Amino acid sequence: TRVGVCFGGPSPEHDISILTGLQALRALAESGGSPVAIYWSKEGSFYRVEPSLEAEAYAGGVPAGARPLELVVGRDGGFVEPRGGLRPKRELLELDVVVNCCHGGPGEDGALQGALDLAGVRYTGPSARTAALGMDKLAFASLLRHHGIACLPREDGRRVTFDGPYIAKPRFGGSSIGIEVLEDRAQLEARMQRSEHFRDGMVVEPYRPDLMDVQVALRRFPTPTLSAIERPLRSAPGEPILTYREKYQPIGGMATAPRELPAAIAPELAETIRSLALSVGELLDSRGVMRVDFLASTEGECYVNEVNTIPGSLSHYLFVEPKIPFAAQLEADIREALERATY
Ligand code: DAL
Ligand code: MG
Repeated sequence: TRVGVCFGGPSPEHDISILTGLQALRALAESGGSPVAIYWSKEGSFYRVEPSLEAEAYAGGVPAGARPLELVVGRDGGFVEPRGGLRPKRELLELDVVVNCCHGGPGEDGALQGALDLAGVRYTGPSARTAALGMDKLAFASLLRHHGIACLPREDGRRVTFDGPYIAKPRFGGSSIGIEVLEDRAQLEARMQRSEHFRDGMVVEPYRPDLMDVQVALRRFPTPTLSAIERPLRSAPGEPILTYREKYQPIGGMATAPRELPAAIAPELAETIRSLALSVGELLDSRGVMRVDFLASTEGECYVNEVNTIPGSLSHYLFVEPKIPFAAQLEADIREALERATY
């Protein structure tokens, strides 16, 4: 099987995706594979790069020696023509499956998935449909509410019906980028005008600093498998929310951020979390690994907050009890991609 690993991408989460991609490349190489590394630049061009490059090689953008890809060609001759690559375009890449390590933007919102579908290239992780729904914080919350799954009120920032303080989030965002605590409607209004993060929309929730973040990852192939429950820890108590910096420092990415794993929470709460995660996975028809993020209290409140259909580090570090090596997780995802085509 010709395996490519795609990472980067024109998204605010570009840098964290590089870390996920390099972790996946390393795991595949260590288990004897020779994956092709596909770097998707911030500007939107695809390159073939040396799989052994370290994160530092990407600090200045496209690494030295990167070769622009001409086309990504699938098994039945379909292709993806990367937009606007450097000219002359050079390389033709034939792949059976792409391990999608992109976070945010067109790599996680269904655009890349749709292009690969049309090309007949299989890929790990969410289908175009699931990806689109998972990235849309407004549509996702409406879906949960419709199905009676507990979540906090979440409304379009332009038509809020409850009073502040609010958490305001970019409607299609991720990794805490652009999230703010705002006091009242006048502040919402002002931030919508001024912050580039809210250009594609703002969703608003009640600010509940009394709730803790807890999360669990899940695979549904070949059989439903839940990870341990994780509680990311606050390293900056002055901040009103878990920030991008807390999530990704030290710069090893998600896999090394401070956390309680498994989370020391009441068994009943853990059971609620697991059962809600399975429901959400089914509802979205998730493929590959999906991480479901919750807000919970010690008094037993538990709300589904977000899904990450391509979570940081592909959540591999959460599968600790029993430990499943990252390479084995990737192998399951690749098999699923080959056996459960979505298009
Ligand atoms: N969107 C990031 C990568 C995450 O929450 O895992
Ligand atoms: Mg996210």
